[in-house]
Amino acid sequence: AMEECKGIKGGHLIVSVATTANYFVTQLLAEFSRQHEGINVTLDVTNRHMLLDQLENHEPDMVIMGEPPKGYNLQSERLMDNPLVVIASPNHPFTHHKKLKLEEVMTERFIIREKGSGTRGAIERHIHRFNQVCTSTLEMRSNETIKHAVEAGLGLGIVSLHTIQPELKAGRLAVLNVEHFPIRRHWHIVMRKGKRLSPIAQEFKRFVMKEAPHYVEAGK
Ligand code: PGA
Repeated sequence: AMEECKGIKGGHLIVSVATTANYFVTQLLAEFSRQHEGINVTLDVTNRHMLLDQLENHEPDMVIMGEPPKGYNLQSERLMDNPLVVIASPNHPFTHHKKLKLEEVMTERFIIREKGSGTRGAIERHIHRFNQVCTSTLEMRSNETIKHAVEAGLGLGIVSLHTIQPELKAGRLAVLNVEHFPIRRHWHIVMRKGKRLSPIAQEFKRFVMKEAPHYVEAGK
């Protein structure tokens, strides 16, 4: 594969990714830039709502996000899994429970993302299926802030398992064993239907499809 990419130098790559995908995309971009000298990259990190807006306006070459909605004139390929788990401070009494009932957990305060976040939408849809709602919430725009708030004991959170590897290793966050969790989601590479990718964008797409799963498994 290294041989194939040697021909492409230079070019401008414009990629936008969901906030939760940023954790592996920056690593991938670093490696890709090492292999392709002289390229210019524009990376935007934002929520699902903004990503769909950008696609509508033909801004990025491609987007990495959760499952795109139907009927937006988009084409997508599934990249890899993205399990959403319930997290708590390691001092939380729930960490001693073997299996928690969903309704038990829902009586806690939850730190949640802003409206327009794909993660938030997925959580709401999932718990509604079991006739549950978050009764007490604290809303924050960034995944990073949510992790800090949960660590500080402000409440529970529901985040992508792939975004908390350093915190789990360091024992700063714990994953709770809750019925009906994790929520099984997937990341996708998404672009406009019929989009003609530049050579560098085509190369990046191939690179991401092949390499992304390794980056996540390794918890880099
Ligand atoms: P978001 O990302 O929560 O930052 O919107 C995830 C997604 O697109 O589903």
